[in-house]
Amino acid sequence: MPSVEGLGARKAALRMLDAVLRKGQTLESAASFARDLSPPDRALALAIGGETLRRLPDLDALIDSATRQRLPDDSKARMALRLALAQKIGLGTPDHAVVATALPLVDGGPRRLVHGVLGTLLRRGVPVSDAPCLPEQVEHRWRVAWGEEVAQAARSQIAKRPELDLTFADDGEAQAYAEAHGGLSLAPRNVRLGSASVAELAGFGEGRWWVQDLAASLPARLVPAAAGEVLDLCAAPGGKTMQLAAAAHHVTAVDSSESRLGRLRENLDRTHLEAQLVTADALGWEPERQFDAILLDAPCSATGTFRRHPEVLYRARPAIIASGAELQRKLLARAAEWLKPGGVLVYAVCSLEPQEGEELVAAFLQADPRFSIEPGKASELPEFVTPSQQGWVRILPGLLEEQGGLDGFFMARLVRRG
Ligand SMILES: C[S@@+](CC[C@H](N)C(=O)[O-])C[C@H]1O[C@@H](n2cnc3c(N)ncnc32)[C@H](O)[C@@H]1O
Repeated sequence: MPSVEGLGARKAALRMLDAVLRKGQTLESAASFARDLSPPDRALALAIGGETLRRLPDLDALIDSATRQRLPDDSKARMALRLALAQKIGLGTPDHAVVATALPLVDGGPRRLVHGVLGTLLRRGVPVSDAPCLPEQVEHRWRVAWGEEVAQAARSQIAKRPELDLTFADDGEAQAYAEAHGGLSLAPRNVRLGSASVAELAGFGEGRWWVQDLAASLPARLVPAAAGEVLDLCAAPGGKTMQLAAAAHHVTAVDSSESRLGRLRENLDRTHLEAQLVTADALGWEPERQFDAILLDAPCSATGTFRRHPEVLYRARPAIIASGAELQRKLLARAAEWLKPGGVLVYAVCSLEPQEGEELVAAFLQADPRFSIEPGKASELPEFVTPSQQGWVRILPGLLEEQGGLDGFFMARLVRRG
C-alpha cells in the first residue's frame, strides 16, 4: 500500500492524546512519541494534539451527532475522529487529507465506521466555534468560583493561541525592543509579541530577554526592591529567578528537579545573571540562615495555564487539586519559618482554583498570627492589576482580553511581624 503523507505525525498525535487523556501525562512529556519525526512533522503532531485538547467537548458532541451508538471515550475510532476533526477546524487541513490520514489510524478496525462518520460530518459542514466548551466539570467549577462572565472568557481564550510575552532585565531595553519589533509593552520590562519562534527572535542568543507570561512576572514584582537575601523556592525553570537576579537581589534558587534546574542554569548562563542553585526537596531541606524575602511559586494544578497547556483541564481532577493544596500548605508552613521577622513571603500559584489560592492563604493567615497581607502598591504592579479587598492579587480570564489575555494566577504578599 502506498504510504500516506503526514501519517507519521497523525500516529504520533494519536499516541500523545492517549497518553494525556488516559495516563494523565503532559502534552510536553507525551511529545516523546514524536521524537523520531522530522521537525515539521513533530510540530504538526503537537499542533494536532493541542487543537484536539482545546476543543475536545465540541469535537465529541459533533461525533455523537453522527453516530447511532455512542463510541466509547477511549476507543480508537473516537480518538481518530477527534484528531481528524481538530485538523479540519483548528488547522484548516483539506478534507481529502483529513480522511486519508484518519483511516490508517484504525487499520484492521472500524475503518468503515470512521469513514462514514467523517463523510457525514464533512458533507454537513463542520462549525468552528470561537468559544468552545470547556470540560463540563471545569466549566461548572469556574462558573461557581468566578461567575458566568469569567467562564465565558475562558471559553473564548481556549480557542486562541496565546501571545508571546518577553521579560527584559532593563525597562529601557524593553521599550526599545517593543518599538523596533512591532511589540506592545503592557508593563515595565514586558514586551508582548504575536506568536513567533523563540529561538529566531532577535536578542535570544545574547540573553537580552526570557519568555515569561506577563501574569507569571507579577509575583516577583511584589518582592521589595531592597530585600537583599532572597530565597526563590520551587524556582525552575527560573523565570522568576531571573527577575530577582536582574533586580540585584542575592538569590538562592531551590528546586527538587535536577533536570528543571539544568534548564534554570542554562537560562542564567544565557542571560548572564547569577543565583546560587540548590537541588533539594523543600519538604526535607533546611537552609543555614533565614532570608529577607522568600518567593514560593508552588507546584499546583496549573489550570491558569490552560491557554498554553490545554491538557491541564483534563489532568486537574478534584483529587489532584486537593492533594496539590495539601503540598502547598506544607511548603508555605515551612517557608514561613525560614523568613526573618519583618521579612516578606510572596506566595504564588498559576492556578484558577480557590483551594490553591484564596482558601489556602486565608487558612494560613488564620493559623499563623505572625503574618498579615501587604497588598501590592500601584508602583509595583501594572495599572490593569488591582489587589482584591483582602489584599491578594487574582488574575482571571477576561483581563486584558483585547490585548490577548493573561495566564490565570494567584499571588499574595505576606509579611512576618514577629
Ligand atoms: C510552578 S513551577 C515553578 C516555576 C518557576 N518558579 C519559574 O518561575 O520558572 C513549580 C516547581 O516546583 C518544583 N517542586 C515541586 N515539588 C517540590 C518540592 N517538594 N521541593 C522543591 N521543589 C519542588 C517543581 O520541580 C517545579 O519546578
